[in-house]
Amino acid sequence: ERDEFHYGTFPEGFKWSVSTSAYQIEGGWNVDGKGESIWDTFSHTPGKRANNETGDIACDSYHKVKEDVNLVKMLGVQQYRFSISWSRIFPDGTTSYVNQAGVDYYNSLIDSLLKIGVEPVVTLYHWDLPQALEDDSFGGWVGAEIIDLFVEYADICFKEFGPKVKRWITFNEPWVFTVLGYGNGAHSPNIKDSGRLDYQAGKNVLLAHAKAYRLYQTQYKAVQNGEVGITCNSDWSEPRNQYRQVDYDATNRVMQFFLGWFMHPIWVNGDYPDVMKVIAAQGEATSRLPELTTQEKSLIFGTSDFFGLNHYTTNLAYETFSPDRINEVSYYEDREANTEQDFTWPAAASVWLKDVPWGIRRLLSWIKKEYNDPPILITENGFSEEGNSHELNDWWRTKFFHGYINEVLKAIQLDNVNVIGYTAWSLMDNFEWAEGYSERFGLHWVDFNDPERPRIRKQSVNCFVEIMERSFPADGLQNCQVNSNIENTTPT
Ligand SMILES: *[C@@H]1O[C@H](CO)[C@@H](O)[C@H](O)[C@H]1NC(C)=O
Repeated sequence: ERDEFHYGTFPEGFKWSVSTSAYQIEGGWNVDGKGESIWDTFSHTPGKRANNETGDIACDSYHKVKEDVNLVKMLGVQQYRFSISWSRIFPDGTTSYVNQAGVDYYNSLIDSLLKIGVEPVVTLYHWDLPQALEDDSFGGWVGAEIIDLFVEYADICFKEFGPKVKRWITFNEPWVFTVLGYGNGAHSPNIKDSGRLDYQAGKNVLLAHAKAYRLYQTQYKAVQNGEVGITCNSDWSEPRNQYRQVDYDATNRVMQFFLGWFMHPIWVNGDYPDVMKVIAAQGEATSRLPELTTQEKSLIFGTSDFFGLNHYTTNLAYETFSPDRINEVSYYEDREANTEQDFTWPAAASVWLKDVPWGIRRLLSWIKKEYNDPPILITENGFSEEGNSHELNDWWRTKFFHGYINEVLKAIQLDNVNVIGYTAWSLMDNFEWAEGYSERFGLHWVDFNDPERPRIRKQSVNCFVEIMERSFPADGLQNCQVNSNIENTTPT
């Protein structure tokens, strides 16, 4: 059934959503008392990002609540996923001072969403750590104090916004901000200690997540009755050579080091996947993957009310092993595997992103088996074109959504996977981290040269809206037709 189209209807109560994150859209980096974050610092350091671009203004969403909420309203989604900027609420990261203007901004956004009947889905941490917590004695996510500081920040958010927010996501993509932030240094805070500090940061993230979850259960759940979860990103992996057992084993390692690192402790037994523990301890007096105590394991296990998943693409995995690996410690070497992509898969502007719709179905089935059939909330999925594109007829995104969302329906109806919602990334073009504005992921095109930052609907919106309204009826969808002659050209 891999390449067969499936006609059918999404279950009653299935949640449709779009997403953004604070640093990527808000701008207003130094206004109304906001403190600096590690992404302000990184983007103000020349040479770190494409064209030295910054999120200083981005989509100027800090000043455009009305416009953004109107875009959300026009889509007809049930949810809007956004993140809170920690340093807008606590300028120096600690409870020593609460910035009321920041609290007011998020209250205004949440109230405007509720007024149009859209549920806010709020991420507490989407990578923009207050710079003060990365400095000096704190040490960011590898420091000892970060766990309690995060819980104090979460506490204020639950208290201030919890009466109105029923779905919380503690962390967005811990894999990215640990491996890229503290491993290879491609992201802020630009620290390079792969295979050590990324693992250390990962442990602190798991503990911070678990403590925030437990705090909500004991202090807020009875009154606010919301859900708290975590979102991890994962590509799907296939063995490159389907006739080699070693490539199947490599594929399993890639998945365990990617998704298992965080989700195995939370959903399986409180601890890391065995394969990670074994490899990270080889030849070491103490494992590079810091052990979790019995107490920590029981703190972590069972701390997510839903399985938040960001998924974009698929890779082919194969075995690698370098005998001198012990001298070249890194997260990537630890996998004893490498990945590549099939050059016939349609390419996005982002080098890592190919349109492989069947991969999402296989990933969803794998999650169902591996993690005991959790309720899965897809919290991101999307496709990019080049930053200099002015094309509003984004047929590549139409094709991507049509294909991937159909595979999600196949996972639900043919494989019995419990998928409870689907979220498109992103509401509008925005600051794509180290890539600056060179990649556009939006359903709406944003003119970054115009001080007004106008948002203009791309054509793929029509397809997305029709799928949300009609699912996949047997007579087809009018707004999702893509001319097959142009299917294999690259987005312009
Ligand atoms: C970015 O900044 C660095 C350092 O100042 C400079 O060498 C480089 O040319 C800049 N790049 C662009 C595209 O402006």
